[in-house]
Amino acid sequence: MVELVDAPHSKCGTFGFVGSSPTAPISLMETYQRLPLRIVRGKGVWLWDEKGNKYLDAVAGIATCSLGHSDRKLSKILAKQLKKIQHISNLYQIPEQEELANWLVNNSCAEQVFFCNSGTEATEAAIKLARKYGHIKKGIERPIILSAKSSFHGRTLAALSATGQPKYQKGFEPLVEGFEFFSFNNSNSVENLYKKLEKNGPRIASIFVEPIQGEGGIHLGDKKFFQFLRELCNKHKILLIFDEVQSGMGRTGKLWAYEHLEIEPDVFTLAKGLGGGHAIGALLVKENANVFKPGDHASTFGGNPFACKAALTVATEIKNRRILENVRFRGEELKQGLLKIISHYPDDLKEVRGLGLMQGLVIKEDSKLSPKIIVDLALKEGLLVIGAGPKVIRIVPPLIINKNEMNELLKRLHSCFNKLDN
Ligand SMILES: Cc1ncc(COP(=O)(O)O)c(C=O)c1O
Repeated sequence: MVELVDAPHSKCGTFGFVGSSPTAPISLMETYQRLPLRIVRGKGVWLWDEKGNKYLDAVAGIATCSLGHSDRKLSKILAKQLKKIQHISNLYQIPEQEELANWLVNNSCAEQVFFCNSGTEATEAAIKLARKYGHIKKGIERPIILSAKSSFHGRTLAALSATGQPKYQKGFEPLVEGFEFFSFNNSNSVENLYKKLEKNGPRIASIFVEPIQGEGGIHLGDKKFFQFLRELCNKHKILLIFDEVQSGMGRTGKLWAYEHLEIEPDVFTLAKGLGGGHAIGALLVKENANVFKPGDHASTFGGNPFACKAALTVATEIKNRRILENVRFRGEELKQGLLKIISHYPDDLKEVRGLGLMQGLVIKEDSKLSPKIIVDLALKEGLLVIGAGPKVIRIVPPLIINKNEMNELLKRLHSCFNKLDN
């Protein structure tokens, strides 16, 4: 018989931390490299640890907490929703889900929506949809999806296989077959792949790509490249699928990042900021891509009333509080502030890349500086930032950050670099 104990044993766990001091062992698998910080409370862009230390959060649950922490409106509406109904099955019609789907459709190029619980699930749904499209609309026996190098699409096996970064795939082979990779923003690379793969007839079902690569290092999609993709897909009836898991829902100053590129995808995926910190993902399709039939795809929790109410509240607040405008103003201040930091450290820092409140401060290739050094220094300055790729410091604060808070963010970040001098 298994003996139950109060304090979990350390055999397979890591050590937990209270503030910055190690305490009792904890029984979590070591899949994350966690910082020595235990957050217990949040309000707006601010977080507090167990000892009462206060941090300005420029990570926002990795571009997720759009309305900041413990938003009053969101808390109130969700508390009410909990008392009303939290979960039922997709066996039944769900009014909150229908309302959210209608809002998404009325405010984007899409015509139908499927709900799931995360970005990686949205990727999975997109991959299944692309394969089915390839089979039934193009008669391809083994459909191929083209994906970009240095992309990130999630951690399930198919999402991992679609991700153009071998470091995430290592150790999990064999990967799911049917993915080929092109260089981001490089039309020749896509054209060469197309010619190679379609030499003897159609094989490509879809091109799956982030309009701005997030995790791979904040690489902006080039308008001409994306227009080339759109034309290629139109010409050969290939589905153009955008991963807007990180860039969608206002993060870039427009509701959807594809608006900056002046083209529309046939399909796009959402998660992260959609629920403002609550687990929800979505696959949005235009009519030509709507190949799913009853039974093709499903999720127990996908589109539950609670998560949908959270997303509906985020949607309403984006409009009511003119959040897109805020993202544009604050994003510009952030960009200018980062450029100023670069001007003080030209030997280490190269450029700023990004849109709205999805910005990356890029470290020079030959600099000894790494995002990790700045992340650790920032923690001591009471600021949370995150890396993106090997040389980019990613800054993705809540979309409601105000002017004073942005100044404070920049001041604290600048201090980190001053500390490097000492
Ligand atoms: C562009 C993109 N797609 C997919 C994912 C996976 O999302 P999740 O972590 O919710 O599974 C992420 C997560 O960082 C992402 O940035």
